[in-house]
Order: sequence, then structure tokens, then C-alpha cells
Amino acid sequence: MSASNKLIIFDTTLRDGEQSPGASMTKDEKIRIARQLERLKVDVIEAGFAAASQGDFESIQAIAGIIKDATVCSLSRANDRDIARAAEALAPAERKRIHTFIATSPLHMEKKLRMTPDQVFEQAKQAVRFARNFTDDVEFSPEDGSRSDVDFLCRVIEAVIAEGATTINFADTVGYGVPELYGTMLRTLRERIPNSDKAVWSVHCHNDLGMAVANSLAGVMIGGARQIECTINGLGERAGNTALEEVVMAIKTRRDYFNFDLGIDISQIVATSRLVSQITGFAVQPNKAVVGANAFAHASGIHQDGVLKARDTYEIMRAEDVGWAANKIVLGKLSGRNAFKQRLEELGISLESEAEVNAAFARFKELADRKSEIFDEDIMALVADEAQSQ
Ligand code: KIV
Ligand code: ZN
Repeated sequence: MSASNKLIIFDTTLRDGEQSPGASMTKDEKIRIARQLERLKVDVIEAGFAAASQGDFESIQAIAGIIKDATVCSLSRANDRDIARAAEALAPAERKRIHTFIATSPLHMEKKLRMTPDQVFEQAKQAVRFARNFTDDVEFSPEDGSRSDVDFLCRVIEAVIAEGATTINFADTVGYGVPELYGTMLRTLRERIPNSDKAVWSVHCHNDLGMAVANSLAGVMIGGARQIECTINGLGERAGNTALEEVVMAIKTRRDYFNFDLGIDISQIVATSRLVSQITGFAVQPNKAVVGANAFAHASGIHQDGVLKARDTYEIMRAEDVGWAANKIVLGKLSGRNAFKQRLEELGISLESEAEVNAAFARFKELADRKSEIFDEDIMALVADEAQSQ
């Protein structure tokens, strides 16, 4: 199954993303985001955790009734009650997935679940078997997978695939993974589990050490995963999840290396990021890759000069391709004469001589030493002063 070059983008903004403290969303807000995710053309929308609350149940049910182009998914613990609740919420969906999980690391099994490995093994099997009564699209996650014992994981995963799990999601629940180790562990699992090619393998990485995107890509390149779980703006529990915009643009921009097919409409990336930020109230940091306000802004004179001559000098992607109106030349104390002159032209200001341009540029530099960003109005005022002083 993993021979295909199609990479499935599984968005969990509405489930794991909502686990960001303070990011909870109403049903209507979730519907707005789900519609936007459909425009973005993600393959799977994890709409929530049906058994977690009545509100989550209703949101999933509403989204399941509206979304036509993506598979709608609900999370559920590995028990019959949760799974039945997920199935009920997903009933209206044209394409539905039940995503069931149970922790497999020694620490979680002993301290959190207070279960023996044999009990976890049985419960995982039973959960997948039960979920298959409602849909033939069942995902299983060994929670805290990256801190689990490989032999035990092999045993559990082989059994759940035999029960009919169609996706295996190797969860780096606490962001402990290191790219090479995470990718290699995934590959070891795929190589050792005899029926591993009966399922699509997935990565689900948290960002506790800032490596969620790198780990996800290693899971794909080294481990052979063909599904990436991610969220808009990297929202999610603690330090968040793999950021959709980053992982997608890494694959698109470096297609010389990542030779995969993605269904994503990248022109919707900025609009989706903005919508999620507005709804959750979580601001996007200015220097955030792809969707941050400064992601395509150039401040230094050398960079501005380069970009004005050829954008590729300092841009590896086009701002317009991901939904920005344009890139930005930010005028400030580091800007050079070229960028200043270009802005004058854009503002329709033509000074008569080079000497006038030089004088205006000198004023601009003097102002820029006092003011961190120079706006168009400042430039207009500067040039008006220049005109008056003649
Ligand atoms: O981080 C995690 O382990 C999860 C699972 C439920 C997949 O979110
Ligand atoms: Zn998670």
C-alpha cells in the first residue's frame, strides 16, 4: 500500500488542535473551519472526539452532514461506548473514519491505564473489531508509540491489522522523537510486521522539541508513512502538532526531494490560517513559516536589492501561491536607496533629479533611525517636506 506516491493529509485542527488550552470552538465555528478545510482540499478532517462531550458529538454530526469532499473522522478511546458514539455522530457522512487509540508505552500502560500489556493487546483488538461493524475505514493509534517497546508494538499492530485496521498512526504523543530515530523505528515496524502492507501508515507528531515537522517528514522518507496528521498553524496539545502549512510547503517547495502527490490547494493556506487564528484567538507569530506576517517580508537593504532584481534570490516560495496578496519590502533603517526609489515609484511620486532622490533618501534614513518601520504616509510626508524646502 505504501508504494503509492499519494500523501494523505489528515487535518486534526478540530480535535487535537482544540486541545490547545484556550482554543475551544463552538459548533458553528467548527463548521466554518471544516468548510474552509474542504476548500483547502485536505483528505481527512478529524472533526472531534464524539464521546468527549455533547457539543463535540453535535459538531461532528453537523460536519459529517455537510462535508462532501473529505473523509470525516471522529476520535474514540478503545472501548465500545466511545466507538458507538463516534459511529452515531459520523452516520450522516458520505465517507467516515473511526480513529481509535490506546496507549502502548510501558509508562502509560502501568501508570495511566493501570493495565497489563496483555490487557492492552486484547482491548486494542476488540476495539478495532467493533469499529469495523460501522465502517471499513478504521484507524488505530498506539498512543505514546515512539516510547513503546518495538516487540510489543509489532504484536499489537499485527493483531489490529488482522482485525481490519486500515490505517496505523504511529503517534509521537509527547514530541520525544528525533527525526532519524522516529523514521527508523517506523521503518522497523513496517519491516517486521508481516501484514504491514495491508494498512496505510501515518505519522502524528507533537512539537515539544520543535521537531514535529521534521519528524513527520522523516516518518515519510525513512519510515514509508503515507499519511501525515497535522493542524493549521500547528495548533494542538502543549506545544502543538505538525503545522499543515509547513509540512505541505516543505513537500511542495522541495519536490526535487519529496516526490509526492498532494491534493492540497495551497492558494487557500493563508485564508485557512487566518480563519483559525481569528476563531481561536491564537495569534500567529510574525516569524512563523509560510503564514507569519514576516514570512515574505524583506527588511535588509541587501535582501531588498536582491529581491527587486530577482525574487528567487531571497524567496524560495511565492507569497501569492499560498494566498498572500504579495511579498513585502519593509522600509526601515536597513533599507537601501533602491528599495526607497522603488517605493516612490509605486506611490506615483517622481522626483525630478537624482539629487532630489538623494536628499529624500537622506531624510528617510534619518527618520528610520528613530522609527522602526516607515510607512507610505511617512514617505509622502518626507517628500512633501523636500518639495517645500526647495
Ligand atoms: O498525540 C496523540 O497520541 C494523539 C492520539 C490520540 C493519536 O493525539
Ligand atoms: Zn496528538
